[in-house]
Amino acid sequence: MNSPFFKTTLPADNVVMRERLFAGDVFLMQSDTASQSLVARVISLIQERLETEDIRTGHLKWSAEEMFDRIGSLRRTVYLDAEFHERVRAVVAECGFAPGRVAFDSIRLRVVQSGGHRNPLAAPVYYPHRDTWYAHSQSMIVWWVPLHDLEPEETFVFYPDQLDQPVANDSEIFDYAVWTKDGPALKIGWQKRDSGISARYPGSLEQVMPAHAEGFSCRAGDNLIFSGAHYHKTLPHDLKRTRYSLDFRMVHLDDAAAGRGAPNVDNRSRGNTLKDYVQP
Ligand SMILES: [Fe+2]
Repeated sequence: MNSPFFKTTLPADNVVMRERLFAGDVFLMQSDTASQSLVARVISLIQERLETEDIRTGHLKWSAEEMFDRIGSLRRTVYLDAEFHERVRAVVAECGFAPGRVAFDSIRLRVVQSGGHRNPLAAPVYYPHRDTWYAHSQSMIVWWVPLHDLEPEETFVFYPDQLDQPVANDSEIFDYAVWTKDGPALKIGWQKRDSGISARYPGSLEQVMPAHAEGFSCRAGDNLIFSGAHYHKTLPHDLKRTRYSLDFRMVHLDDAAAGRGAPNVDNRSRGNTLKDYVQP
């Protein structure tokens, strides 16, 4: 049972829902037809690529390099293919968003390996951060969908008190124009294996993490929806099984036009990703 910080019913009015997201509400909604279908499709693609039914231990069959190549090509597919853009529209529509007013940065497939936090190449995965530090709009809403049922120790945590409180960070190092100058490969991570070392990812410079943290368990296909300005952190785990999840970022164009969004208390990243979002 999760804490009441995680809301499990959606406001009927989508405008109200967005206001509440910008004020810090996090919605953890049960899976629906669109998210279940998305999850089933991606699981079957991972099974195909890893040549195994059990994707959570599939990494044992392959070297790290082989695993990276097999999953990397799939990352590219779920990010770029029109099929998955349609799936994003279906997922947001089920939760009350008008797809015709939604621009989005498409789906990333995330793979958090058991013990992955000891791999220096994967270090940025575990940086406490706000997604907005990557030159995203303050109007941005993040959608996260797990591919399996997960316990709190293998998901991530929010630090709710920091939504409107600055934290020391180096978001000023992030310049979207530099990040994407060689195309989208670095952004999605389907090629450069050493990108965790050669690229600079913004993160927190705080020495001590806030005491108030909110973690959660979830079921496959749940829709976790939150403001991109929320301060949060992926948890390292040693559970001997891989955690797969999907996430995408979206902006309601009415919010962007009206300047509605979460407060910006410390984001100094440069550029604007919204122009490269998939437009309605
Ligand atoms: Fe994040």
